[in-house]
Amino acid sequence: MTDSGSLPSRLTAGLSGQDLAKASAGIRAATDLCQNGMKLGLGSGSTAHAFVRALAERVRDGLDIVGVPTSTQTYDLAGELGVPLADLNDLVELDLTIDGTDQMAPDGSMIKGGGACLLWEKVVAKASRRVMIVADDTKLADHLGTFPLPIEVLPFGWRSSRKQIVELLADHGYENPDPVLRNRSDDLVITDSGNYILDVTLGTVTNQAELTVLLNQIPGVVENGFFVGIADGVVVGRPDGSSEII
Ligand code: 5RP
Repeated sequence: MTDSGSLPSRLTAGLSGQDLAKASAGIRAATDLCQNGMKLGLGSGSTAHAFVRALAERVRDGLDIVGVPTSTQTYDLAGELGVPLADLNDLVELDLTIDGTDQMAPDGSMIKGGGACLLWEKVVAKASRRVMIVADDTKLADHLGTFPLPIEVLPFGWRSSRKQIVELLADHGYENPDPVLRNRSDDLVITDSGNYILDVTLGTVTNQAELTVLLNQIPGVVENGFFVGIADGVVVGRPDGSSEII
């Protein structure tokens, strides 16, 4: 279902290229997928935040929903915009989560965590009856792996966890895996749960279902960025401002 109808200009003013693509996906999700009474998971990253901005407009127009943010950044944005928020422990189960992705394969499996929010994102997604992804068209890939896989690890003993991650990946056909501790502007990235992120470029991944289970069995690995069997569909935005629900 492609929609190239006019987008609300206050949400797209000055945008072009992939920024417009992200905004159009977010607006489409807020317009077509969210209904009164829904308990919503609110994703993280720029595309999910475009969705949150469009959702806030609908809330101002009377839409009655409650949202559970997947990161402190999303909590801050949604709170500032007046989106009603709740704690996942008070709701336990959600109707729908709208979140972004770093890469999505044709089977719907994904790599997420480019914004270091993968742990809360996976908890919220798994608590949701339905998960829809918002993505600009560059996120759709023939296979996973060109985007580095984020792995969230405990600070305690992270070098030992890293060594076991390297051994596991080497045993599963990946040559010289080199997980790198994530820094931003020379500062160590600390996740919302106080952990570190290791990023590892794998090349072509075909065994994401197996790896997602095996990686999480390594002591100190808190969660990995493979999201397999989680997405129910994707809202793809394009640089011309059109969008499609697949
Ligand atoms: C954060 C994520 C984001 O959804 C992912 O990084 C996509 O971000 P963007 O929409 O800014 O491209 O997984 O952990």
